[in-house]
Amino acid sequence: MTQAPVKVTVTGAAGQIGYALLFRIASGQLLGPDVPVRLSLLEIPQAVKAAEGTAMELDDCAFPLLQGIDISDDPNVAFDGTNVALLVGARPRTAGMERGDLLQANGGIFGPQGKAINDHAAGDVRVLVVGNPANTNALIARSNAPDVPAERFTAMTRLDHNRALSQLAAKLDVPVTSISKMTIWGNHSATQYPDLYNAEVNGKIAAEQVDEAWLRDTFIPTVAKRGAAIIEARGASSAASAANAAIDHVHDWVNGTPEGDWTSVALTSDGSYGVPEGLISSFPAVSRGGRWEIVQGLPVNAFSRERIDASVRELGEERDAVAGLGLI
Ligand code: NAD
Ligand code: LMR
Repeated sequence: MTQAPVKVTVTGAAGQIGYALLFRIASGQLLGPDVPVRLSLLEIPQAVKAAEGTAMELDDCAFPLLQGIDISDDPNVAFDGTNVALLVGARPRTAGMERGDLLQANGGIFGPQGKAINDHAAGDVRVLVVGNPANTNALIARSNAPDVPAERFTAMTRLDHNRALSQLAAKLDVPVTSISKMTIWGNHSATQYPDLYNAEVNGKIAAEQVDEAWLRDTFIPTVAKRGAAIIEARGASSAASAANAAIDHVHDWVNGTPEGDWTSVALTSDGSYGVPEGLISSFPAVSRGGRWEIVQGLPVNAFSRERIDASVRELGEERDAVAGLGLI
């Protein structure tokens, strides 16, 4: 193997998503079966030892593509020369914590990480924010990285997208492969809007194949509140499915989305579909030549308009809150 390894940095590497993610990256599922990788694990000092344990296990897998593992508690070191940055570690909301406290705590993480990416990452760096509130954390990181093109900062709604595929497939008793053109619009939160008016099942509009009451009263809330349902059932938030979605997101970004289909990505808005420029909001997107492009010209009916606007309004409120805290 002569190709230089791609450096992939994972923050929160000792957490549960990290544990579900690292082995899949090292096995070649993130970038492809021929692409060597070097892993960089960023953790807080108290969790470095646990990250070292995970690194020992990675060694024990003898992955042919894995060319090295570095562990650090310093973002300037962990992002040095990084090509792919997966920002997973975040401050979860704890009992009694106000929304402003949560945003402030995450600003303390994603601000310095954005700056470290700005100052040290490779010129082609691609960033995926998974840690919640993902869209706004991505906005904070991007705002602290003025030298990195805004299009390189994304947040994850692929898990919501995959959840929507699965719920619809189960309802219609079809394989997920018969569904295309699914879109999650807006925020990775309960206000997100999974759109069946543009999605297709075997080439026909999905909304025409289900009854409206199911679409509005079952499908949308089931997808939008799935994260909370997983927490309720597992006693911990989704981990393997979140890691799987991160793999899907980066794999498609680097290798391209399939012809005739698109996926959902929270991207910096260019004003498309009335989403204010600069917000990091989920859109239908294709990847061509290693770049995300928002799919243009989709019809947005009155119901969809209302739902998209509600989620985008929430994103605007989050942006105003972090701006008020001086984080962007
Ligand atoms: P976890 O608590 O198991 O792990 C988080 C890890 O991050 C911990 O090991 C912690 O030490 C580390 N960490 C905290 N601050 C850090 C910092 N400044 N630098 C580096 N590491 C740091 O949590 P998890 O289950 O792995 O989830 C991680 C995040 O992903 C959470 O915010 C969760 O809400 C979010 N999440 C997002 C999605 C999505 O679809 N976008 C889905 C599931 C979970
Ligand atoms: C999910 O969608 O599963 C998570 O974002 C839920 C959470 O709050 O961690």
